[in-house]
Amino acid sequence: MRGFRSLKLSLRFILPLAIALGMLAFAVVPLVDKLTLHWFIRDMDIRSRLIANTLHEPLAELLQQGNKSRIDSLLLRASQDERLLAIGYCSDQGDLLYHTPSFLVSISCSSVASNVIEASQILQLPEGAVHVATHQIVQEGGKKGHLILVHDTSFMELRSADTRKYIIILFVVLGVVTSLITVFVAHLSWRGWMEGVRAMLKGEGLLKPFSPQSASSELQPLVGDLKTLMRSLDAERRLADDSTITWSPDSLRNLLHKQLAGERVIVVSNREPYIHSRVDGEIQVHRPASGLVTAVEPVMRACSGTWIAHGNGTADRETVDAHDRVMVPPDKPEYNLRRIWMSEEEEKGYYYGFANEGLWPLCHIAHVRPVFRTSDWEQYVKINQRFADAVVKEADSDNPVVLVQDYHFALLPEMIRKALPKATIITFWHIPWPNPESFGICPWREELLKGMLGSTILGFHTPYHCKNFLETVDRYLETRIEHESSTVLRRGQLTMVESYPISIQWPPPWQGTLPPVEQTRAEILTELGLPADQLLGIGVDRMDYTKGILERFNAVERMLELHPELLGHFSFIQIAAPSRSALEEYQAFETRVHALAARINVRFTHQGRPAIILKAEHHEPDQVNRYYRAAQVCMVTSLHDGMNLVAKEYVAARDDERGVLVLSQFTGAANELYEALIVNPYHVEQTAEALYQALTMPEYEQQERMRSMRALVCDFNVYRWAGRMLLDAARVRQREKLATRIGRVS
Ligand code: G6P
Repeated sequence: MRGFRSLKLSLRFILPLAIALGMLAFAVVPLVDKLTLHWFIRDMDIRSRLIANTLHEPLAELLQQGNKSRIDSLLLRASQDERLLAIGYCSDQGDLLYHTPSFLVSISCSSVASNVIEASQILQLPEGAVHVATHQIVQEGGKKGHLILVHDTSFMELRSADTRKYIIILFVVLGVVTSLITVFVAHLSWRGWMEGVRAMLKGEGLLKPFSPQSASSELQPLVGDLKTLMRSLDAERRLADDSTITWSPDSLRNLLHKQLAGERVIVVSNREPYIHSRVDGEIQVHRPASGLVTAVEPVMRACSGTWIAHGNGTADRETVDAHDRVMVPPDKPEYNLRRIWMSEEEEKGYYYGFANEGLWPLCHIAHVRPVFRTSDWEQYVKINQRFADAVVKEADSDNPVVLVQDYHFALLPEMIRKALPKATIITFWHIPWPNPESFGICPWREELLKGMLGSTILGFHTPYHCKNFLETVDRYLETRIEHESSTVLRRGQLTMVESYPISIQWPPPWQGTLPPVEQTRAEILTELGLPADQLLGIGVDRMDYTKGILERFNAVERMLELHPELLGHFSFIQIAAPSRSALEEYQAFETRVHALAARINVRFTHQGRPAIILKAEHHEPDQVNRYYRAAQVCMVTSLHDGMNLVAKEYVAARDDERGVLVLSQFTGAANELYEALIVNPYHVEQTAEALYQALTMPEYEQQERMRSMRALVCDFNVYRWAGRMLLDAARVRQREKLATRIGRVS
């Protein structure tokens, strides 16, 4: 097929070449004929002059003597020359006096005498063409006559035919050789060109100027142009896609249908979206406290497909079918939850150990040292493989779209890629990515990076995390990185590293169904036994040392010190869902949180109204939402956070356009929610003052800030987050398909 294509390509050149050569031959042959004739005549003239000069003297002498027999014999001897046809001698009066027997009668002496025949010329006689040369012979005494030399010219025609033949052969050979060279060069160029285009479609061309192996040097300028064109087209298209689509579950579904051929997606995460537990003999379902679940669940409902996750609820095994699957959400089943089981030992090594004692503190700058143990690593590898096997089983094609979530599965992309080379693997890292030095602490840093680079697309929340990742790869792995297009090429696998700021469902699921904010606030205050005018602050987190809960409490305390008029008029509610409680670091942290809250409350409880209300238990999303709506201020003071969706949830909850968000500068959300009061949680006074500013902010300012933040979250909702990744994935798939097609035909 490839040969046929280059032959076809070559024919386009060969045919015109053959026509041009034919025309050239057509013009050249008569020209060469004329030229050779001219040479031959000149040659005949010279020969004739030579013979005549040689004969002149003896002939003149014999003529003088009138010795006919000797004259005849002289002429006969001279005519022995193979090309000399005949010799004759004419008197000045035009009589043929002597001649060899072969002398042609048609040559008359009278025409010679009267100069009708010039000194030399070709005569067309009935016997054929001859060359006739006349030479004046002058005898002693002045008597004159003409020696006539007749040369046979038939050899000229033979030679001319030969020349014509050789010229035509020369042109044919020239044509064949040129064609062969053309076919050869075209074949090489076509291959080089196609390889170049294929590489570029795969994205390799975007990585570096082509090497001599990948594209011929004459294509370099063209490749440069193509690269620029493709980049600008990509950028334009992404921009257009982003700004023209109103992102909703429907647009996401359409995208899947149109751009990804209706693919069912497979999501993989450690935390499952619905946990079945047995409580007092009854099976209950609850939603875990996880930003990841909050974001991915609405996407999954829109896309349908399968979500593979660790089944760790006490009633999880009872609720699945024979294939470990259960349809969720329980009240309106829309997608499959496929549960993966693990032993306590496996969970301890993979989840508590490697993921949460190693990678979690490694990626967060929260001053807790990571711990790496070989036994944990082994479990991490084993469990990643178990999930990879499950993905392969759940896939209903050889090129599924797989969304791998978070740091629990750094090895998964490469493992899936091995089993399903054509899969589109989108990996999203929900937590920050540290700088290369910090990441270098991990003894298995290369393995983790290689694993992640099995992805088609690798997403982080911010461009800064992408930059850190690329620098880390650059430091520890042999790859080709192109910063301009943010891509990494390793062993033929191209990974696009891009920032996709995660978000929440918009419109919120409860939109238009909730009682007014004032009513909810009044209910909450009653529930808490607080007066109706009590100001409320809210913090919602997992009980995690990265969340800045201690710093937040310190800021509350400092604010009350600085503004004692608020003492007894302000209470801060902290919801802290128990998290990873099996780990010592988390147990110690929880103890510190409780102790600090207690200490502050001892100092600042006024008339039975505590400064801090700590609710260290799990709350379902609708309960959390009530607190959001009731509180005048929400505090997000993470010491380091990938995005932090609590900030966006608070904004979404405030359809009354009131309330103020105090937001840590170390969250991804701070890159988007500029109208929040941005703080450095390590700076107690600054955070305390921001809290005070929030509590005393005029309503019109609250409204302006909140309106603007709501518009942003509405626009940059979670469907856009998923949609942008899927669009990029669709583009990569399209390119790969094109590259394969070109590969087939070239
Ligand atoms: C963070 C992680 C998620 C995780 C969540 C809850 O948001 O990025 O992957 O699900 O914390 O943590 P947990 O360990 O309870 O799943």
